Amino acid sequence: MTRDPLVNTAAARPVVDETTLILGIETSCDETAAAVVMGGGDVLSSIVATQLDIHARFGGVVPEVASRAHLEQMTPVVDEALSRAGVAPERIDAVAATVGPGLIGALLVGVSAAKSMALVLDRPFVGVNHLEAHLYAALLEAPDVEFPMLFVLVSGGHTLFVEMRSPDEFRIVGQTIDDAAGEAFDKVARYLGLGFPGGPAIDAAARNGDPRAIAFPRAMLHDGLDVSFSGLKTAVINHVRRHPDVASNDVAASFQQAVVDVLVGKARTAAQSIGARTIALGGGVAANSLLRASMLDAGERDGRRVLLPSREMCTDNAAMIASAAWYRLRRDGATPLDEGAHPQLKLAAQQR
Ligand code: KG4
Ligand code: ZN
Repeated sequence: MTRDPLVNTAAARPVVDETTLILGIETSCDETAAAVVMGGGDVLSSIVATQLDIHARFGGVVPEVASRAHLEQMTPVVDEALSRAGVAPERIDAVAATVGPGLIGALLVGVSAAKSMALVLDRPFVGVNHLEAHLYAALLEAPDVEFPMLFVLVSGGHTLFVEMRSPDEFRIVGQTIDDAAGEAFDKVARYLGLGFPGGPAIDAAARNGDPRAIAFPRAMLHDGLDVSFSGLKTAVINHVRRHPDVASNDVAASFQQAVVDVLVGKARTAAQSIGARTIALGGGVAANSLLRASMLDAGERDGRRVLLPSREMCTDNAAMIASAAWYRLRRDGATPLDEGAHPQLKLAAQQR
């Protein structure tokens, strides 16, 4: 089993309760974010400075550019999070930051800032797994959620199906074996010349296309809980090469339908197998209009509640980092200050 670097058996356990105030910092990719959350669920402020415009002209996120932008944004974003929350720095009980997965240079900016603040304020530092934080984002908007819950995380870097039996018990039940769903959207959009980020561009183009125009493959649909999108991407490229005059809108609509059929099909199977009462979506692809509508539809048919978090909670933010930190601090205590950043960090199963 892989070691979970966030479990610190030697740490002192501070009191963690409904009044505990945590400052969270997120810099794993192209958003500089800070937030203050009380008691793990009460968001007092959540500030996100996106770098999307800076990276759009390169057609993707440039790691070096991202790190520099995080450095510039860090102090103003943290200041604004504290002042919007109306909280003086001395009142913060713990300082948290994403330690992985993500871009190493970007992660180090947030981790260094959080550790420095923790040292200056003499408060615990809490290292947060970004993937774990996405789970708590779903709970932030639906505190009354019924477990077991199937969480479907679909972002530019990840596609995971996670069984959550309580806020402190979860494990991966399925994932992509190659490309993430968002990565497939971005690559196909780039090939079709629709721009970056590709997801919203395909979503828009698909509205004017026929989803039945081209029968793209639905890989592994009836085979376990893992998914694969690499073959679909290749099928799109091959089709366009063979039919250069094909309407881009039809390709976009047919591609999107194939991705959504796979994600919804797998989510239904996974939800059935864990006896889920709720399905929640998270990650940037959760903004996709067809995915949202189809997942709602499936939930209605199967008698399950479907949580569709707001755009702010689907995408990267620091409220979810501060919330995840609250549960971590309560479960495992503070993270040692010599703990570094982990670009390839996986979601480790948690049990009570
Ligand atoms: O979670 P996110 O903001 O960033 C990380 O990957 O961490 O996700 C970004 C991904 C991109 O691949 C983007 O193309 C995709 O989410 N995305 C969408 C839509 N909006 C964003 N994909 C499909 N449909 C959308 N409407
Ligand atoms: Zn994310």
